[in-house]
Amino acid sequence: MRYRRMPIEAESPEEYGYDRIRCNLAESSVADASLAMLGTDLGDLLLQYGDHRGLPALREHIAADAPGLEADDVLVTAGAAGALFLIATTLLQEGDHLVVVRPNYATNIETPRAIGAEIAFVDLVFEEGWRIDPARLAAAVTDRTRLVSITVPHNPTGRGMPEADLRAIVADCERRGVHLLVDETYREMTFGGPLPIAASLSERAISVSSLSKTYGLPGIRTGWLACRDRDLVERLLAAKEQVSITGSVVDETIALRARRMRDAWLPGIMAGIAEGFAITRDWVAADDLVEWVEPDGGVVCFPRIRPEADVDVALFHRVLVDDLATVVGPGHWFERPDTYMRIGYGWPARDRLVEGLGNVSAAIRRALR
Ligand SMILES: Cc1ncc(COP(=O)(O)O)c(C=O)c1O
Repeated sequence: MRYRRMPIEAESPEEYGYDRIRCNLAESSVADASLAMLGTDLGDLLLQYGDHRGLPALREHIAADAPGLEADDVLVTAGAAGALFLIATTLLQEGDHLVVVRPNYATNIETPRAIGAEIAFVDLVFEEGWRIDPARLAAAVTDRTRLVSITVPHNPTGRGMPEADLRAIVADCERRGVHLLVDETYREMTFGGPLPIAASLSERAISVSSLSKTYGLPGIRTGWLACRDRDLVERLLAAKEQVSITGSVVDETIALRARRMRDAWLPGIMAGIAEGFAITRDWVAADDLVEWVEPDGGVVCFPRIRPEADVDVALFHRVLVDDLATVVGPGHWFERPDTYMRIGYGWPARDRLVEGLGNVSAAIRRALR
């Protein structure tokens, strides 16, 4: 494995220092929740090794989201990131071929790269509405392809896909005998209601998700993968056991509590997201130097400075961060030019979101040539 730090992590707000940031538009979750909000008393919790697959009640709760899924199809992992790592290192070896959409959440690209896998990128295009086209994915698959990897709703664009497209991708992977990884970390935040959990559609599909983004619980590092191919789940469990044996019983107990509060909690979360989305949409409409593909899920969008605007992009980001204490996710986090930026509209308080978006507009103008 050839590890190197990813810019999205090395330059993340928590590494840069939360205390140096006034307007944080770089987050990809809703605002972080506290233990007190969950009302969890952990005083009696025995700090033993837990179930190697993850707390059974938690896995049952996750499996109940999709018809045909059972608790033993679910493996609890150290965040969705942990699931992505286990999947890549279990399915891929040096020289193996996989198909990945780009831009993407960086780990979906970087771990296969660290393994030395041969990556066929399917590059998404602004002018095509960032669409993940099933035909383009299918055309990239060869006889040697071991894995197709997509993220939906997508990070950084916030775009979903029609259910028919997901089913077409699943069907093609099944026909070609290729595993399909669907990173569903933003699934519950789909504006028009979520797509089916991919793992429920085919034994070839592996779904990945977590509590980090929708519930603002990245600090408990609890995610999961789901797959109906039990032999594969067993191999993934072997990988997990070699990394950590089991997950944290503290984290999993908190995660179960959060899942059980979901019905009461989620409507308020979605209302907050809708508010941030509306503010951001108004900002894009009002700024003639910015354009976007309007997202339809998640809490992030990936606008760009209009190509016809002659802007010193490095200066723009310097002014934004150094002078205005405002951070966004610059395009290079996603292997795209820095004229693109990921803006997270679900995390900041509303007044800081408004101020931060205003600062983006101001920084662009200060960087005009
Ligand atoms: C699409 C996607 N997948 C996975 C992750 C990893 O999240 P976590 O490990 O906190 O669940 C992220 C985090 O930004 C993400 O955006």
